[in-house]
Amino acid sequence: MSTLVTGIGELVTNDEAFGPGPLGTVPDAALVVADGVVTWVGPATSAPDADRLVDLAGRAVVPGFVDSHAHLVFAGDRAAEFAARMTGARYDGGGIASTVAATRAATDEQLRARLAALVAEMRAQGTTTVEVKSGYGLTVADEARSLRLAAEVTPETTFLGAHVVPPGADRADYLALVTGPMLTACAPHARWADVFCEPASPHAFDGDEARAVLTAGRAAGLGLRVHANQLSAGPGVQLAVELGAASADHCTHLTGADVDALAGGTTVATLLPGVEFSTRSPYPDARALLAAGVTVSLATDCNPGSCFTSSMAFCLALAVREMAMTPAEALWSATAGGAAALRRADVGRLSPGARADLAVVDAPSWLHLVYRPGVPLVRSLEVS
Ligand code: NIG
Ligand code: FE
Repeated sequence: MSTLVTGIGELVTNDEAFGPGPLGTVPDAALVVADGVVTWVGPATSAPDADRLVDLAGRAVVPGFVDSHAHLVFAGDRAAEFAARMTGARYDGGGIASTVAATRAATDEQLRARLAALVAEMRAQGTTTVEVKSGYGLTVADEARSLRLAAEVTPETTFLGAHVVPPGADRADYLALVTGPMLTACAPHARWADVFCEPASPHAFDGDEARAVLTAGRAAGLGLRVHANQLSAGPGVQLAVELGAASADHCTHLTGADVDALAGGTTVATLLPGVEFSTRSPYPDARALLAAGVTVSLATDCNPGSCFTSSMAFCLALAVREMAMTPAEALWSATAGGAAALRRADVGRLSPGARADLAVVDAPSWLHLVYRPGVPLVRSLEVS
């Protein structure tokens, strides 16, 4: 069964074979999908026939957003913590403990329902690929449960037992648990291992501890990602590059040596500007990263503490307005950049061989995504 999607006012392919610039934009375009995969892209006037027809009446189409960093398995609410931050309280990760308590107390059904609602919320806003981390269980059973539930909604599951040292636990004992029995129980349900590397937080992990977590994860067959340099210019970014992590996330406080390391390695810099917005923090220096030739990704970090948005369009608007990314750079980073951060070649683009994960913008141009901030213009369209 094949489908011709036509009437596309402007199609972003992220493939320079189809149009100018990194976005590879095609005006008045069409594409053909067979069995969920794009098989043809080009001008609508030369489109081949297909079994079914979808006419988008001049709307713009972009690759579905690839949200490569989210924490969606949790219970509870930290709205009061957000309100306190807006009147001056600082974020240091201490509030994670309250989400851990609520998550442990929740039933599987409660966690599954919350997770499904958040994934649906993302999908309704144009996100077609999402990474989901554990990290609010912090016992062997609760971390394994979080990852089992995450694996029900995405293949991009990340073991984050090393989110914080749980209240009351001995730091060395907990590290031994995370790199031992907890990793063994979680690895079968995870693609990635992650660690909150942040010496500036009393709750998170320093460079040596993070190295132990990451090398154990790698030995268990997991790919690596790192929460790095969120609250201070710590060792996380350079550790991520040294260990060949797919992504160093946050990158809020970077030294020149961090930028050089990223430029010389294979690690994507994933920026999460919703966190800076929601914690009243300075934004990462996206221009320095781009000038150095670093691959930059944008993601939401959707979580109940540091940033509770599920909207990639909101993150695009922040990237453009607050980090001086061009709209084209921001769109690329939220799609192809996210795919690079997850080392996926089948998403983040719309050219032959890619998954038919479309995001339809209810406007003649994709620029309206940032030109009309806060307006719900974009939705997912998965074509079979
Ligand atoms: O990416 N930095 C650590 N972890 C999350 C926040 C988790 C929370 O506050 O609940 C983050 O910002
Ligand atoms: Fe995070």
